[in-house]
Order: sequence, then structure tokens, then C-alpha cells
Amino acid sequence: MGESTLHPPVTVAITGASGAQYGLRLIEALIAAEHEVWVMVSKAAHLVIETETDAALPARPERLAQTLTERYGAAAGQIRCFGREEWMAPVASGSGAPSAMVICPCSTGTLSAVATGASNNLIERAADVALKERRQLILVPRETPLSAIHLEHMLSLTRMGAVILPAAPGFYHRPASVDDLIDFIVARILNQLGIEHRLLPRWGE
Ligand SMILES: Cc1cc2nc3c(=O)[nH]c(=O)nc-3n(C[C@H](O)[C@H](O)[C@H](O)COP(=O)(O)O)c2cc1C
Repeated sequence: MGESTLHPPVTVAITGASGAQYGLRLIEALIAAEHEVWVMVSKAAHLVIETETDAALPARPERLAQTLTERYGAAAGQIRCFGREEWMAPVASGSGAPSAMVICPCSTGTLSAVATGASNNLIERAADVALKERRQLILVPRETPLSAIHLEHMLSLTRMGAVILPAAPGFYHRPASVDDLIDFIVARILNQLGIEHRLLPRWGE
């Protein structure tokens, strides 16, 4: 597959909420759908990935891109990774950022920072750009129970046009494995992005 045949990039940010596998599976699904994927992984997310998965992901963006490329059999250049303070990265500007960004999973810390426009790291800045440019922004929070602060931030982000897609899988598809539960959420994200997939039958199929 040549680089030029790839579909437009989607930004995927993995932050330090539990459920790192949702983010990793999303990257895998986007690669399979032949999209370019621009990845950011927060420092806390690296700790969560180490705790919850067998993936050994390096922190340095170039090495991370190489590891993810090998892990998911991506084409050369299909995955690009950016560092925490890489302010010159295209995602940091309205003129360079992709038309869609997913924060998956989204910690309550990042949720709060995005809701208030903190922009203290590249993930928060990229989300701020998505909001100001009225681009697609999907946040996948995972926390329970939710405080008034969490709920207020979710409401204000929804009102700004972002989609809050909680990591709360359904059970009506009779999941037989953890992978089935993960795919339930990833399928919902792909539906939002308008990307075809075969992870899960649609309702009524
Ligand atoms: C193993 C582990 C699990 C965590 N689970 C959650 C979680 O489910 N939801 C959440 O909002 N924060 C969770 N945290 C806390 C966040 O990682 C922490 O608030 C961090 O500052 C978030 O930073 P980030 O948004 O830059 O990734 C968890 C942390 C660890 C180490």
C-alpha cells in the first residue's frame, strides 16, 4: 500500500484513564481501514498501558511510531507520533490538524483541561484546536462514579460540539470475551467517524 492511497489522518490521543486497550484497538482498526493515524500518548497513559496490557511502548515519539507500525502492520508513514510538548506538530494548529480527533480513553484530568481550554500539553492543545475549528472531537471518558465536576465538564463539552462517548460497553451482543467488549466501544467510535467496519453488527442486522 503506497502512502498516497491512505485515507485522511485521524488523531488518536491515549490518556491515563483505565482502558488503554480501547485506544490501542482503535489505532489498529484505523490502520486496517487504511487511514493515516496521528498518535499522542500521555505520560500517565504509558503507565496505564504498562499496567493493563502486554504492549511495551517506548516513550520517544519516533520509536513509538516504529513500534506501533510493526505491531499493527502499518504502511511506512501511516502512523505518526507526537511528543507532549511538540508545539510545532501539525495537530497544534488549525491549518495542520486533521478533521477528526479521538481521546480514547480520556482521563478526567484531560477532560477537565479540554473543557477549560488549558492547552498545557499537545493533547490538550490539539483538542482545543479541534473545538475552535469546529472539527470532530470525540472523548471516551472512563471513570465511575462521576462527580459534579466530571458531569459539568461533559455537559459543557457536549454543548461545544464534542461527542462524549463513555467507555460503557453494552451486553446485548452477548460478549464472549474482553475483546468483544473493547470492540463494542471501538465500533461506536468508528460509527461516529463514519468509517466502515466489521467489528460488530449494527442494531437490527
Ligand atoms: C493504573 C491507573 C489507572 C487509572 N485509571 C483512571 C481512570 O479510569 N480514569 C481516570 O480519569 N483517571 C485514571 N487514572 C489517573 C490518571 O492517570 C491521572 O489523573 C493522570 O494525571 C491523567 O493524566 P493525563 O490526562 O495527562 O493522561 C489512572 C491512573 C493509573 C496509574
